[in-house]
Amino acid sequence: MYKIAVIPGDGIGKEVMEATLHVLEASNLEFDYTFADAGDETKEKTGVALPEETLDIVKKSQACLFGAAGESAADVIVKLRRELDLYANIRPVKSYKGTKCLFEDVDFVIVRENTEGLYIGREEYTDDGATAVRIITRKASERICRFAFEYAKTTQRNRVTGVHKANVLKKTDGIFKETFYKVAEDYADVETEDFYVDATAMYLVTMPLHFDVVVTTNLYGDILSDEGAGLVGGLGLIPSANIGDKQGLFEPVHGSAPDIAGKGIANPSAMILSAVMMLEYLGENDEARKLEKALTQVLSDGKVVTGDLGGSASTMEMASEVRAKFEGS
Ligand code: NAI
Ligand code: MG
Repeated sequence: MYKIAVIPGDGIGKEVMEATLHVLEASNLEFDYTFADAGDETKEKTGVALPEETLDIVKKSQACLFGAAGESAADVIVKLRRELDLYANIRPVKSYKGTKCLFEDVDFVIVRENTEGLYIGREEYTDDGATAVRIITRKASERICRFAFEYAKTTQRNRVTGVHKANVLKKTDGIFKETFYKVAEDYADVETEDFYVDATAMYLVTMPLHFDVVVTTNLYGDILSDEGAGLVGGLGLIPSANIGDKQGLFEPVHGSAPDIAGKGIANPSAMILSAVMMLEYLGENDEARKLEKALTQVLSDGKVVTGDLGGSASTMEMASEVRAKFEGS
């Protein structure tokens, strides 16, 4: 029995969560879910977007499934990552057959530093505008680079690309680059290279098949992973894992999508694939592969899929189709 915290959140977060739990019901595994509140609606009701009680529930669980928050996302997910020290954000970018991907056979993983960089929330107004503080430490850089190389090793990936802008941000990104190569010395059998972030933005479009594991700082990783989503058919398909030493939190890369919320038409794939990542994290690799296969079959059949994938199915219709394939596997 796995102890799982469930935070549906706002907008389509709630819809894709309901769909994913429906699919997981067909699993051979048993989950003990504890539901917890966070997001815009919670803030309206209680005054805080991330109540202490929610934080406690997540801390007492082995893993957390998170849907999406709305405008309060910074106070919810960014805070959860920091409070639980979920330092590694893993975002796989993979093209699935049957989706509108710009390229077939794309399969790389962005490993994003999750605790520092430009997202520490230290902004201040000045007379003329505002300033933001960006923190890069050797400790966090080493931890994330080591995570990326270990991840490459355990998932049989052969190349790790470090991404930075050390030519301009000489001290902060200088330290990141230096640390990246220091860690790389311990992984002689993995190919190592580094690119500037602006060039990487272009290479992701011009040669996406080149990439295997990309490791980078917080803001760059955020931006490059949405670019990755664009390469393979949109935000409805990209899951993510936030991993720390004690816990993992799994969430789609997309937000609460107010433009389509309440209509029951959101693509549940990113949330289902986040559950696949959770199963891998729990060591349930067979179950993870079965669930991923069930989803890929539904995607490649293309009959019972949501509007963003060119179909006309509702969120729950698509989820039920995935569940039926998962059950029969
Ligand atoms: P978004 O990811 O919510 O939506 C961007 C576009 O992608 C929209 O057109 C939306 O309809 C579409 N989209 C996203 N997920 C989809 C899905 N599963 N199926 C079909 N189409 C999908 O990002 P946006 O519009 O920038 O932000 C909306 C709200 O979400 C904001 O309040 C923002 O703060 C929040 N947000 C929360 C995040 C989180 O909780 N981790 C992450 C990103 C944004
Ligand atoms: Mg983002």
